[in-house]
Amino acid sequence: MQRAFIDEISKYDGQEALIRGWVTNRRSKGKIHFLTLRDGSGYLQATVFKGELPDEQFEQADHLPQEAAIEVRGLVKADSRAPGGYELGIKSLKVISLPSEEYRITPKEHGVDFLMDNRHLWMRHRRPWAVLRVRDELERAIHDFFGGRGFIRMDAPILTPNAVEGTSDLFEVDLFDGEKAYLSQSGQLYAEAGALAFGKVYTFGPTFRAERSKTRRHLLEFWMIEPEVAFMTHEENIQLQEDLLAYLVGRVLEGRGEELKLLERDAAKLEPTAQGHFPRLHYNEAIEMVKKIAQEQPELELQPLAWGEDFGAPHEAALSARYDRPLVLEKYPAAVKAFYMEPDPDDPRLVLSDDMLAPEGYGEIIGGSQRIHDPELLLKRIREHGLPEEVFDWYRDLRAFGTVPHAGFGIGLERTVAWICGLQHVREAIPFPRMYTRMRP
Ligand code: 4AD
Ligand code: MG
Repeated sequence: MQRAFIDEISKYDGQEALIRGWVTNRRSKGKIHFLTLRDGSGYLQATVFKGELPDEQFEQADHLPQEAAIEVRGLVKADSRAPGGYELGIKSLKVISLPSEEYRITPKEHGVDFLMDNRHLWMRHRRPWAVLRVRDELERAIHDFFGGRGFIRMDAPILTPNAVEGTSDLFEVDLFDGEKAYLSQSGQLYAEAGALAFGKVYTFGPTFRAERSKTRRHLLEFWMIEPEVAFMTHEENIQLQEDLLAYLVGRVLEGRGEELKLLERDAAKLEPTAQGHFPRLHYNEAIEMVKKIAQEQPELELQPLAWGEDFGAPHEAALSARYDRPLVLEKYPAAVKAFYMEPDPDDPRLVLSDDMLAPEGYGEIIGGSQRIHDPELLLKRIREHGLPEEVFDWYRDLRAFGTVPHAGFGIGLERTVAWICGLQHVREAIPFPRMYTRMRP
């Protein structure tokens, strides 16, 4: 008999199916045992009735511990009371392996630290399983979105000779004979080379930030997707970000509704994002709005902000709390942004940047900008930022040969997963988080 998978069990309604998987739960009531099985693709309720299978197998079923690996054959029956809508009436059972010691993650409540210490096992359980399936859906949707628009995926290097987003949070790596390299903070500069070669590219890879930060939004290693497009302007850049987020949320709502339900995520809170039409605030407007919110809601205890300063997480949260979909904050002061951003022609103190803040207090998930394309201005900015000119010689070549206005952005995968799944912390949005406070397992 061919092996069936739980996520397609409805195809077997009224027929026999062979399932290979693991026991996640067992209850026994005299002549019946109720098992919950998982096979990686889903969870399934199964019943074992005395007399419907050989006696010694019925006895075995009475002692099956959590995480016993088994192979079962049985009849698939639609049952509206069963989670998932189907139940398996087991007719034969074979034990593949039994745990060599007692399984640690029992149905009782456990603390997050304990669960994170056992992340390699915890992944088998419903919540993390659902989150990581949403992550997978997002990864696929990102490739589909860009692939469908003619973008070329271009992989940026992980070992790099220079910083992109400022030097404070670089991980240094020893190369040979005293030479150093850094783990990439961002693939952007390489994506810019790609944009001038292929027109439209995106990178999709791990990036690293040595931040001694214990917030719920920071990882040392996270995955970033960085599209970059030749001839794209600031306006078009924002439109591309909006289209991407609307598409991604739509895809999860459509394809991972069961997982959202399992996570008790209110899907209605995501629906506005799928419609697009994101609200937009100019930096100047945002500064004024923060002042107003601080007056109206003193209980928020917002730090006063002077013009020219960057927003903190509490300011961002207060601003985005007013909207039901991502908020675009555009045109920040050059002084608080990276060296490569194009000045705003309406006010040269500002740059053509934008950040997208997710609703419900999730904060920044996208950062992007139009890039400086003038060679002289770029060199001036590299000097002003005290960056070593010689490591940027190749980057300046992009302005020396066929320079054009171009723009792009970076979206953080884990923050996007955390928002869409309604998670407390980004550590649950990646299979094995790397944080200031955690390197294991
Ligand atoms: O705003 P950031 O620093 O932008 C860049 O790196 C640009 N070079 C992107 C570009 O224009 N191509 O980072 C982009 C996004 C943030 O909005 C956030 O979602 C995520 O990367 N991010 C982090 N996610 C988890 N942990 C961290 N420590 C993160 N730092 C940034
Ligand atoms: Mg940013």
